[in-house]
Amino acid sequence: MVKAVVLGAAGGIGQPLALLLKANPLITELGLYDIVNTPGVAADLSHISTPAKVEGYLPADDGLKKTLTGADIVVIPAGVPRKPGMTRDDLFKINAGIVRDLATGIAATAPKAFVLVISNPVNSTVPIVAEVFKKAGVYDPKRLFGVTTLDVVRSSTFVAEKIGDLSLSKDVVVPVVGGHSGVTIVPLLSQSSHPLPASVDTASLDALVNRIQFGGDEVVKAKGGAGSATLSMAYAGAEFASKILRAVKGEEGIVAPSYVSLEADPVGAAALTKELGAELAYFSSNIELGPQGVVKINPLGKITEAEQTLIKAAIPELQKNITTGVTFITEAK
Ligand code: NAI
Repeated sequence: MVKAVVLGAAGGIGQPLALLLKANPLITELGLYDIVNTPGVAADLSHISTPAKVEGYLPADDGLKKTLTGADIVVIPAGVPRKPGMTRDDLFKINAGIVRDLATGIAATAPKAFVLVISNPVNSTVPIVAEVFKKAGVYDPKRLFGVTTLDVVRSSTFVAEKIGDLSLSKDVVVPVVGGHSGVTIVPLLSQSSHPLPASVDTASLDALVNRIQFGGDEVVKAKGGAGSATLSMAYAGAEFASKILRAVKGEEGIVAPSYVSLEADPVGAAALTKELGAELAYFSSNIELGPQGVVKINPLGKITEAEQTLIKAAIPELQKNITTGVTFITEAK
C-alpha cells in the first residue's frame, strides 16, 4: 500500500502530475491538496481504471491534515510560476512562505514521508523544508529531495536531437549536477551515455549547455505570460517519484540526480566536497536510492576543464541561494 500526495494539485504541474501518479500501478492511494479546485480534479481522476483511490481536499476542515494522513511520498508543486523576464529567485517572496507552511503540515502529519520539492526556487525551498523539519525535530536528510529531473530530461532530449535520433532520448543519460536555476544547472555532457557527434564543436557544445541551463526560459517565453514548464515538469516529477517508489520496493541500483542535503551521506559528501573545493550544505549529484531514501551521494567523477569552470560559477550562486532559504526560517521574526 502506497499513498502519494500532491500539494498544489490543481495547478499547471499539479494536474498532469496527479494524472501520471494515478496511472502508476505502485500507488494505491492518491491525496490531492490545493487552495482551489481539488474536489473536481479528484473526481475526474477517480474515474480512471487504475488502483489508486483518489481524494481531493481544500484548506477548510483540516484539509491539509486529511490529505497528508498516511502519506508515504509527498510531491510539492504548490506556488507561483515564472512570467517572462523573471528568474526563479524572483519567486522566493511568495513561494518561500507557501513551502514553509506546507512543510509545517508535513512535519506534523507525515514526518516519515519522502518529500519531493518542485516549487521554485528549488535551491532555496529545499533548505526551507529542512529547517522547518529540524525545528519540529523530525528531519531526516535521506528523505528530502529537490526535483531537478526536468534538467535531466531536457538534457536527454537535446542530446538525442543532436545525435539526430529522438528515439534514443529515453536511453540517453546525462548527469546534471549543481542546483536548479540558471548557472547552477551544470550538465556533465562529457559523461553522457551516448557521446555527441563529432560535428558538435566547442561553440555548439557551449550553446547546448546554455540551452539546458536556460531551457525553462524557452517555455516561459513561448507561453507568453501563461506560466512556465508544466507538462514536461509533470513527466519529470512522475519519473522521479517512480524511481523513489521502485527503490522503496527493494529494486537495487537506481541512481538519479537530485538536489539533497550533503548530510544525507557524510562519506559521499566528503569526497564531493573535495572535488568541489568548497563546502556546500546542498548539492545536486547522482544519488543512489534505497528503501530509506538516499543511500549514497556519488562524486562528480572525471569532468572536463570546461565543466570545472561551470561548477566554479555555480558554487557562489548556490551558496547564496542556500543561505537565503536557511535564514528565511532560522532568522524569522
Ligand atoms: P500554477 O500556478 O499553475 O499552480 C500552482 C498551484 O499551487 C495552484 O493551483 C495554486 O492554487 C496552488 N497553491 C498556491 N498556494 C498554495 C498553498 N498554500 N497550498 C497549496 N496549494 C497552493 O504553477 P505551476 O506551473 O504548476 O508551477 C508550480 C511551481 O513549480 C512554481 O513554483 C514553478 O516555478 C515550479 N516549477 C519547478 C520546476 C522544477 O524543475 N523544479 C519546473 C517548472 C516549474
